[in-house]
Amino acid sequence: MAASVGCGQQGGSGVTVAKEVFGYADGERPVYLYTLKNANGCEARITNYGGIVVSLTVPDRTGKPGDVVLGFSTLDEYLKGHPYFGAIIGRYGNRIAKGRFTLDGVAYTLVANNDENHLHGGLKGFDKVVWQAEIVEGKDGQALALSSLSEDGEEGYPGNLSVQVVYTLTKDNELKIDYEATTDKPTVVNLTNHAYFNLGGEGSGDILGHEMLLNADRFLPVDAGLIPTGELRPVKGTPFDFTQPSAIGARIDHDDEQLRLGGGYDHCFVLSDQGSPITLGARVYEPTTGRVMEMYTDQPGVQFYSGNFLDGSNVGKGGAAYGHRYGFCLETQHFPDSPNKAHFPSTVLRPGQTYSSHTIYRFSVR
Ligand code: BGC
Repeated sequence: MAASVGCGQQGGSGVTVAKEVFGYADGERPVYLYTLKNANGCEARITNYGGIVVSLTVPDRTGKPGDVVLGFSTLDEYLKGHPYFGAIIGRYGNRIAKGRFTLDGVAYTLVANNDENHLHGGLKGFDKVVWQAEIVEGKDGQALALSSLSEDGEEGYPGNLSVQVVYTLTKDNELKIDYEATTDKPTVVNLTNHAYFNLGGEGSGDILGHEMLLNADRFLPVDAGLIPTGELRPVKGTPFDFTQPSAIGARIDHDDEQLRLGGGYDHCFVLSDQGSPITLGARVYEPTTGRVMEMYTDQPGVQFYSGNFLDGSNVGKGGAAYGHRYGFCLETQHFPDSPNKAHFPSTVLRPGQTYSSHTIYRFSVR
């Protein structure tokens, strides 16, 4: 059984959030770094630039703290560009084919930023926005609320979209992410977070030895542009079957057409227990440190990306170059390209409705 372990001094009962300047965007606009701490000494550092989770420090089985997300120590490194480390993704997580969709009979063209396709909200997605930030009082203590207005026509999307993302570190060593959005015109929305995890510690090596359970009995095969074909394919008998825990690396190099197309895992999995209240989507265990991460969500899918495009060109916080598969992402979301696939759960948001999505990453040890 997994057990929670404190990673430092016991403090008061509440969670606190402290604020400091992280750097300056456009040479003059201050960007802040918020440090969320719970009474176990666990800590999440989040910047309002892109809503990026810069670090997430949780204990190993001996109680020793370690940072389990990939990222940089300075704002400037984030400003130079990176593969969405820890960022909020929007307006639309993952790809929309050819950057085109039709809604209520109106055709929209989005910015194509991934060959001919639209990826993660376009050229300036939510990962590059300086969010308004506020420290708010929650159930467990303080939390960080980020908000932003994405204007009608931004990156080609219709409607003024008002977005709020609340990050909460709980007393139970959970990082909770709650998303909400409203619009003044019919539009499409699919928000997520793009944290790359390495439960052995960022920069400690590849993630192939992590053992993962994914509560998903189907996945979405893709074409050469990584757009879902529309099929919901059973995982049974394929290298995509993580319904029993399996090392991420155990089958990643199998001769399988879908693994070839993704360069490894880069696919949306259809979660088996969907809806409210949020349910267990994944459990990942790292044997050398004993760290366990559980992911809970109310979303229909999770994009499991095994860091196939990491190539050593980004040097992280601890000085290590992030090589091939040094981190994995579990991006909770609706399915990619839903605006063009009528049989996928809808990502349409209309005036008067509120988009909401909830995800928890819970840390413990074994
Ligand atoms: C996508 C990958 C992409 C990565 C960005 C993932 O969500 O599925 O194909 O390369 O984000 O670094």
